[in-house]
Amino acid sequence: MPVTWHEATRELHLHNGQLSLVLGVLENGWLGQLHVGAPLDPASSYRHLGPSDFLGFSNRVDEPIGLVVPTPGSGDFRIPALVVEGPDGSTVLDLIYEGHRIIAGKPALDGLPSTYVEDAAEVTTVEIELGDRITGLRAFLTLTIYEDRPILARSIRLTNAGERPLIIRTAMSAALDLPDGPWELLAFSGAWARERHPHRARLLPGRRSLGSLRGATGHQQDPSLFLLRPGTDEVHGEGFALSLVYSGNFLAEAEVGPRGSTRARIGLHPDGFAWRLEPGATFTAPEAVLAWSDAGIEALSDAFHGLYRERLARGAWRNRPRPVLLNSWEGVYFDFDHERLVEMARATADLGAELFVLDDGWFGERDSDDSSLGDWVVDRRKLPGGLAPLAAEVEAMGLQFGLWIEPEMVSPRSRLFAEHPDWAIGVPGRPRTEMRQQLVLDLSRPEVVDHLEAAIADVLSSASIRYVKWDMNRNITEPYGGSLPPDRQGEFFHRYMLGTYELWRRLTTRFPEILFESCAGGGGRFDPGMLAYAPQAWTSDDTDAIERLSIQWGASHVYPLSSMAAHVSAVPNHQVGRVTPLATRAAVAFFGVFGYELDPRTLADAERAEIRAQIAFYREHRDVLQRGRFVRLRSPLGADDAAWMAVAPDRRTAIIAHVRILERPVPPPDRLRLRGLDPELIYRVAPWPGPDGEGVRRGGDLLMAVGLGLEPADPPTGAPRGDFTARIWVLTAG
Ligand code: DGJ
Repeated sequence: MPVTWHEATRELHLHNGQLSLVLGVLENGWLGQLHVGAPLDPASSYRHLGPSDFLGFSNRVDEPIGLVVPTPGSGDFRIPALVVEGPDGSTVLDLIYEGHRIIAGKPALDGLPSTYVEDAAEVTTVEIELGDRITGLRAFLTLTIYEDRPILARSIRLTNAGERPLIIRTAMSAALDLPDGPWELLAFSGAWARERHPHRARLLPGRRSLGSLRGATGHQQDPSLFLLRPGTDEVHGEGFALSLVYSGNFLAEAEVGPRGSTRARIGLHPDGFAWRLEPGATFTAPEAVLAWSDAGIEALSDAFHGLYRERLARGAWRNRPRPVLLNSWEGVYFDFDHERLVEMARATADLGAELFVLDDGWFGERDSDDSSLGDWVVDRRKLPGGLAPLAAEVEAMGLQFGLWIEPEMVSPRSRLFAEHPDWAIGVPGRPRTEMRQQLVLDLSRPEVVDHLEAAIADVLSSASIRYVKWDMNRNITEPYGGSLPPDRQGEFFHRYMLGTYELWRRLTTRFPEILFESCAGGGGRFDPGMLAYAPQAWTSDDTDAIERLSIQWGASHVYPLSSMAAHVSAVPNHQVGRVTPLATRAAVAFFGVFGYELDPRTLADAERAEIRAQIAFYREHRDVLQRGRFVRLRSPLGADDAAWMAVAPDRRTAIIAHVRILERPVPPPDRLRLRGLDPELIYRVAPWPGPDGEGVRRGGDLLMAVGLGLEPADPPTGAPRGDFTARIWVLTAG
């Protein structure tokens, strides 16, 4: 049982041999955090790691005391985890430990996505009850430790057991006190078309905040935060990582206090948030996931990959091989009709792809992005017969048919807006900010969710649709819930997310066989919350191979290959104008859920042949490329080259990619040291493409300790030289 309660010392120890969390009830009744991180012997007491005789902060202000649910106003001046305003307007709380209970399995969170188990034995969950006598606030802290993962999941539920309303101002999902420093913060930040670039810097006294106030997690920051000891690299050193299972406004923050200790917190962004908790009501905060390792960043990524692939993603497509698709967007944008799509699909089938996706522009009268969102009826000018005959023709070619939707949006030029102008988010009496000439529907209103469920379900039942790309192309401005009273407007952003999750839940439940991919102008809502409904996401609108190196490298810190859609597009690239070889574009896109995003009718014969070979290669190695262990070898950030690999779970097959970003004259001898292989095995190292049977035999030990020669001679490939060139090797044991 990985939860031990020591009655004599009032300590609660969660342990699984891979990490420990030790909590202690302090003398004043508060719940202290005595230790988090390295696994400790559960039989021992760790009281000495916390304060003795702690009766509150009087006369000991600024002590680096570890607290599990820190609150403001009682002498702890660091960032709080919970701020609740009582009937008297004060936010001072005295949260006293009331007891705890062990729960079988892992309970789901009300209305929110979360990680889960298939067998109660996979985890142990403990629910700790804390209470504030004066307000009647009860806080139920739920901690789940996985048996075989270095992972703890945490969430908090707040109930008003008092007689008067309370206002929740901050409800962080997790807080973490790290007694000694220094720490470095690694975060994944960027912009549209440049998402999730890693940024690492030493924490200085004061706060470093990451977050979003956009109504979506956004392109700008990933909802995660890694704290690393200086010197921690991919395979050495200690690190913690927090990741939030949520898709809306969030805050991830670390603060170094006056004595050098660090507190981190992650959860709903408190700015603009205020939740009115009526007597008897309960509020549930999203789930935060904590990973710990002393074996480097790779182990933290491994932990997230396994958990998010196996116990966050769900449904029929969780374990299924994902089809190779061709998406119409960059090929023809809005400019298509039935005939053109049929020709594209025919050319797609000829390439060996498996799914043809019709992107934006098939509904209303949408010839550009200035109209029709909300009018989910087929544009008969373009598709006179509707979607059903198109899907049938596509299927007759041996392809599946997929469709793009953007349910949360409405164009001012649309029938829906004419009928329900009040359904678009906006503050009455104030102008609305338009972005991409569209507005966001108020999904905090149940009738909007009901309408969208019916409208989208009609579309999805109207034809044989096997895949859906659910887009979301703008953020929320003038936040205001049309059905919320003035004193509940602080609930709007979170209620928007609850409505959105409800819509996802209903549609994915009604259409369990459809493969859903989430998208928000690329990676603007690529987060663990969405992964609970859609097992894959469009990683970025940037399809340039060189830009994608950094984007996929960054995203891979938290997200598994099976969640990252990656496509080959035409050159010059539409986002950056760069011309890269077709082979390089594929070499990068292979590592994820692979596809194309171009007009297959315009390909030259040689390109067609090359693409056929690429698709055949991907299909042959799809298991490794979608579900293998991803190993980051050389970072592309600010570098002249980059490399990564995917290894099959049994370590008998691996695919390696090396990309030369900038070629240099007279290059020094260079060897790429691999990781994750079996040192006992002999591998055939075959460059791809290459004649069958080509390759040299090398030991796993040698490939990891000495490396794979990057000079053309070993193995003899006549490797390409020049900027933006790529090489792939397939390693097969035996
Ligand atoms: C943004 C997406 O990221 C693109 O792939 C495409 O679907 C467009 N929206 C369509 O409007």
